[in-house]
Amino acid sequence: MTPEQIAAIAQQGVNSIEQATDEKGLRDLEIQLLGKKGQITGLTRAISEAPPQERGVFGRAVNDAKKTVTQAIESRREALQDSALQAELTDFDFDVTLPGISKSSGTRHPLTLVQEQVEEIFVGMGFYVLDYPEVEDDFHNFEALNIPKDHPARDMQDTFWLKDGHLLRTHTSPGQIRAMGEYAPPFRAIFPGKVFRYEAVDASHEHTFHQIEGLMIDRKVSVANLISSMKVMLSQIFGREVLVRLRPGYFPFVEPGFELDMNCLLCSGDGCRVCSQSGWVEFLGCGLVHPKVLKAGGLDPEQWQGWAFGVGWSRLVMMRYGIDDIRYLLGGDIRFLKQFG
Ligand code: DAH
Repeated sequence: MTPEQIAAIAQQGVNSIEQATDEKGLRDLEIQLLGKKGQITGLTRAISEAPPQERGVFGRAVNDAKKTVTQAIESRREALQDSALQAELTDFDFDVTLPGISKSSGTRHPLTLVQEQVEEIFVGMGFYVLDYPEVEDDFHNFEALNIPKDHPARDMQDTFWLKDGHLLRTHTSPGQIRAMGEYAPPFRAIFPGKVFRYEAVDASHEHTFHQIEGLMIDRKVSVANLISSMKVMLSQIFGREVLVRLRPGYFPFVEPGFELDMNCLLCSGDGCRVCSQSGWVEFLGCGLVHPKVLKAGGLDPEQWQGWAFGVGWSRLVMMRYGIDDIRYLLGGDIRFLKQFG
């Protein structure tokens, strides 16, 4: 066989490709020419049978033939697809003016909206945003936070225990210990997260809810700085000055500890089911990190101090958007969720 004969075979192939009238016919031709047992493929095999001094010329001719046929198939396929589309568009029964099927896009969850706001505020003040496990161990959730085994504070947080001795974290505070183990002081961080308590569910209690924890570690920190950071956070979230009251509060992991209440924005202080008719909503615990907690986190309390806070993120969302039942938050009701941008 000569290179000219090979080119002629390719040309024959191209001729029939150009006469193919549908994609099925084209596909059959493709197999005939380029398939495993195809004509052109067969030529490739014949290269090795040619006398050594002719192999180069022969090989080039076969490759050219392959290229020509492949290109012809591709352009014929495009042309056939084009005309199929044209035919469809000019088909009398095909109405291009009918509205398409619109996709409805989702909305962000109110928890996410508040999270983004809180993160922006704190990132602006140099805080990291960290994420820690929901399944914790006794050490991080209790022991290291100065809540030993027989401590009454354990009863305040009814715990879901797992069979292997782990637990579902009852608060985001174990993140304090983890962060101290991970970052060299001084540092500041917030950790938003889901927490779990074995509680009866009602309008203001859920077994699964959300908190945002904050921690600042430095050589010297002050209660004044803590309180002003809390005020910045609240007034930015609510877009106005909010009424707060500070009470001494007991949490084993801070000393001194405080509870910060805010006037109930749902009932403007008249009393409603969210504030348990008191006019005040308690949603933030804070204080100076207890020396024992610093030690458990691997820091020397002689050198380092800290403040911490834990805010009821769920409550924050409810106040911010006027939601009077916490069960809406994780209820997954589309009618509720659609109301948020
Ligand atoms: N972990 C506490 C709770 O779930 C909230 C809390 C109180 C966090 C005081 C803190 C804090 O960081 O300083 O009730």
